[in-house]
Amino acid sequence: MSDRPPFFVIAVDGPAASGKGTIATGLGKAFSLPVLDTGLLYRCVGVLMQKAGEDLDDHEAAACAAALLTADQLNDPALRTRAAGEAASRVAVHPRVRDALMEFQRTFARQEGGAVLDGRDIGTVIAPDAPAKLFVTASPEVRAHRRWSQLKAQGERVSQEDVLADIRRRDERDGGRDTAPMKPAPDAVLLDTSEMTIDHAADAARRIVEAARATWLSAN
Ligand code: DC
Repeated sequence: MSDRPPFFVIAVDGPAASGKGTIATGLGKAFSLPVLDTGLLYRCVGVLMQKAGEDLDDHEAAACAAALLTADQLNDPALRTRAAGEAASRVAVHPRVRDALMEFQRTFARQEGGAVLDGRDIGTVIAPDAPAKLFVTASPEVRAHRRWSQLKAQGERVSQEDVLADIRRRDERDGGRDTAPMKPAPDAVLLDTSEMTIDHAADAARRIVEAARATWLSAN
């Protein structure tokens, strides 16, 4: 009898605009697994607080907003804006917000068959036993250019310099917080997408996960 859990979890972590979202979506298709963009949870908490006029540094109010969050709130296009990304990074420093969102993510990860989750702490905190872990990076300049193009396509007017400053600030906050800081899990495979097209990166990710899946399948 195998003691392998009946779910195959793929953890995709990395900084803003590294390509991890597109990679996670591609992996979901390639391995027929549902995908959760965990950044949306934090974005939703930040946006709910801003709509209610709350202070993002108020950890009590942030924990309440996180506890009330439901899956049907995650499709709001307002979660994709530049302001929502910044608000998400600020509420994500509160340990009680992270605790409140943990069960939702773990339940998603442990569904039958498995799942793909992308975020900052999937391989380290949410699913440390995931058999496939990727940490996707790219230089701040490349990421800023990608994010600027996305925002432009969404109709947001902002300079590339400002987006680069956002990215650097978020990297520092997300990687420097005390609770669940963004960092590669010791067993994650690093994938630097700076010099890659998105198709090339998705392909490289698929090959890494295929190898991890073969190892997982052969384990007892
Ligand atoms: O992936 P994203 O840019 O949508 O994430 C927005 C912010 O949410 C990010 O700057 C930090 C926070 N976040 C987090 O702390 N942990 C996660 N697993 C996902 C996102």
